[in-house]
Amino acid sequence: MKNPPLPTPSLIPSPADVSWGDDVFLLPAHGITADFGDLARSDRSRLVRVMSFLPPVDAVQPGASADLRFELTTRVVGAEAYELEVSAAGIRISGSTADGLHYGLQSLRQLLPAQAFSRAPLGDVRLRTCTIQDAPALPWRGALLDVARRFFPKRFLLHFVDTLAAHKINRLHLHLTDDQGWRVESHAFPRLNSVGSVRAASQVTHFDEEPETDGTPHGGFYSSSDLAELVSYAADRGIVVIPEIELPGHSGALLASYPEFGPQDESRSVLTHWGISNSLVSPLPEVQEHLRRLLTEVLAVFPSPWIHLGGDETRLGNWERDPAVSEYMRREGIASVGELFNRFMTDLGAWLTTQGRVMVMWDDAFANSPDDAPPAVVTCWRGTDVARQAAERGHDVVLAPVFPTYLDYYQAADEREPLAIGGPITLEDAAGFDPLDARWGDEVRSRVLGMQFQLWTEMMESERHVEYMAWPRACALAEAAWTGRPAASTPGFLDRLADHLPRLAALGIEYRPLDGPHPWQEAGTGRRHHRVGLPIAEIRGALSQAAEDGATAVSLSGERLDGRS
Ligand code: ACM
Repeated sequence: MKNPPLPTPSLIPSPADVSWGDDVFLLPAHGITADFGDLARSDRSRLVRVMSFLPPVDAVQPGASADLRFELTTRVVGAEAYELEVSAAGIRISGSTADGLHYGLQSLRQLLPAQAFSRAPLGDVRLRTCTIQDAPALPWRGALLDVARRFFPKRFLLHFVDTLAAHKINRLHLHLTDDQGWRVESHAFPRLNSVGSVRAASQVTHFDEEPETDGTPHGGFYSSSDLAELVSYAADRGIVVIPEIELPGHSGALLASYPEFGPQDESRSVLTHWGISNSLVSPLPEVQEHLRRLLTEVLAVFPSPWIHLGGDETRLGNWERDPAVSEYMRREGIASVGELFNRFMTDLGAWLTTQGRVMVMWDDAFANSPDDAPPAVVTCWRGTDVARQAAERGHDVVLAPVFPTYLDYYQAADEREPLAIGGPITLEDAAGFDPLDARWGDEVRSRVLGMQFQLWTEMMESERHVEYMAWPRACALAEAAWTGRPAASTPGFLDRLADHLPRLAALGIEYRPLDGPHPWQEAGTGRRHHRVGLPIAEIRGALSQAAEDGATAVSLSGERLDGRS
């Protein structure tokens, strides 16, 4: 008599097509054989580096019998597409690129017990036979991590990359610089590290309270070799690391290090409080020259085709007040600081083009003058309607709307939730996010590169708390990015998620349990106690009103509604 079929594993993100068989393949704990076919040596070693969750692997001659077979074939269409077949005879992973094969391995890992996400060796595993055919709907599936507000050690970034790869995320947007810290090593401008990477203290009060700090210095920066390691570790896992160097605003750490890069002489320090500051890099040509030298160093470390130069929340008044800037504007026939801002970003973007890279900027830099905005990929944080408008004007766009992709908002309106900016943005909200609005035409849809979730860290003091805020909401958003549909639209998402959480636990991630925080994750009554903060209804109201009015410059950049203040 046949054994009853094994249980069906839950996969996140949900593959495009799966069919389950009733047979079994035994993956023996003592070791397996693998046929790497005609894979290039570099692709093969890349896959081997991410296969450590499997029993020990012995490579065999191409064509020999093997437990695991990799097949590079144009039959599987799409750079990130793959097929995974488990039959009674063995496992076959097919794809047209090493990226596709890598995703096949990530799905195979989810067919194994959750222990495959830990570093402990597996026992014998009985795998249920299946055929999976899968490809992502969106080419940009991202995560932003703000390491400027909080420095996290390199080991956390590497572990974060492992977790992203397990969810088939392929872009890590590293927010490396801001008013409160500079985190990239610079040889040309060493004060960025000796001065810019450390602040005297960190604000502990909420945005509408009397500012108070913890009185404790905070800092750190990544050496070029740390970053090279991160970039190559991420590349093995299909992830491009996109550096963000914030210009011309959010530049307090840069100006504290090199005050001469600012429009006027004033004493500056790396900021100890959050919110939008007046810091503004000078637009004068000699400063642009320095910036290009600085960016040349950044480009040497990050091979990413995309370089994010910020462009959000600039208070242009400092330019207006500077006589040297006024004189420059007169000389160049520039009528307004808005036009000057456009020129500043356009020139930097044009220079990046000469270096073979593409500029990415926040949507403020588009909304400033929609018909005449600098050519760039636009990261749309102030709702999806600004994305539609940017797409209609020929920009490629990445969706990063505050609701529901800003994971620094509370996960529930509950006194137990530790201090966050406001909200709530619940797991259900994240699971309801539809990255491809049904009302958009093909022209707009074709400009949507994808979406990303954001981890701004003003209120995330530790790695533990970053994980608490990220997971499991990010599981839902990763699913939306892969499938191009709301996670909630695929039946059984919450059940699949419940099966998925032990994988996060095996990775050592301190996620938020579905029924609320563990006692040690709660807000308590101390300085992290729950305050309501920014009501999400108000933000959503402002966004939908702006969409109705056809406005691009939503008032989210005001302090009250800014997710980061
Ligand atoms: C942003 O939240 N200012 C991008």
